[in-house]
Amino acid sequence: AKERTFSIIKPDATRRNLTGEINAVIEKAGLRIVAQKRVKWTKAQAQEFYAEHKERPFFKELVTFMTSEPIVLQVLEGEDAVAKYREIMGATDPAEAKRGTIRKKFALSKGENSVHGSDSTKSASREIKMNFIAKEIAG
Ligand code: CMP
Repeated sequence: AKERTFSIIKPDATRRNLTGEINAVIEKAGLRIVAQKRVKWTKAQAQEFYAEHKERPFFKELVTFMTSEPIVLQVLEGEDAVAKYREIMGATDPAEAKRGTIRKKFALSKGENSVHGSDSTKSASREIKMNFIAKEIAG
């Protein structure tokens, strides 16, 4: 079914001017970028977004990284968008990511892994609401 997912182009990628190359991979896969904005998150925004990871050993590092530089927030739309985007992102650890995936091409490490994508339609809905208002999305 036609779905929406939430995507972030992370600081390691914006810093290296990879937004356009990552968007090309997204669009070639048939996903439509129906909303996009470049922002810098506050610490509070990053902590709220990643609340489910707050007990993890890497939480502080994750929040510091995600607030270190601007990021690009996106809503992607298409057939099975959640699963399709996870497929083209590749595994969290670039060493395990398949050839042709965004993380295989661009990620530097498990933390600096270039992109985020929602893990379910429920997460997508939460993450989109947290970062966009309805009129910013033009499907
Ligand atoms: P993301 O999909 O944005 O959601 C949680 C993030 O935690 C994940 O991508 C990784 O970037 C990050 N992460 C997972 N494991 C580690 C780790 N071992 N060290 C640092 N960051 C991690």
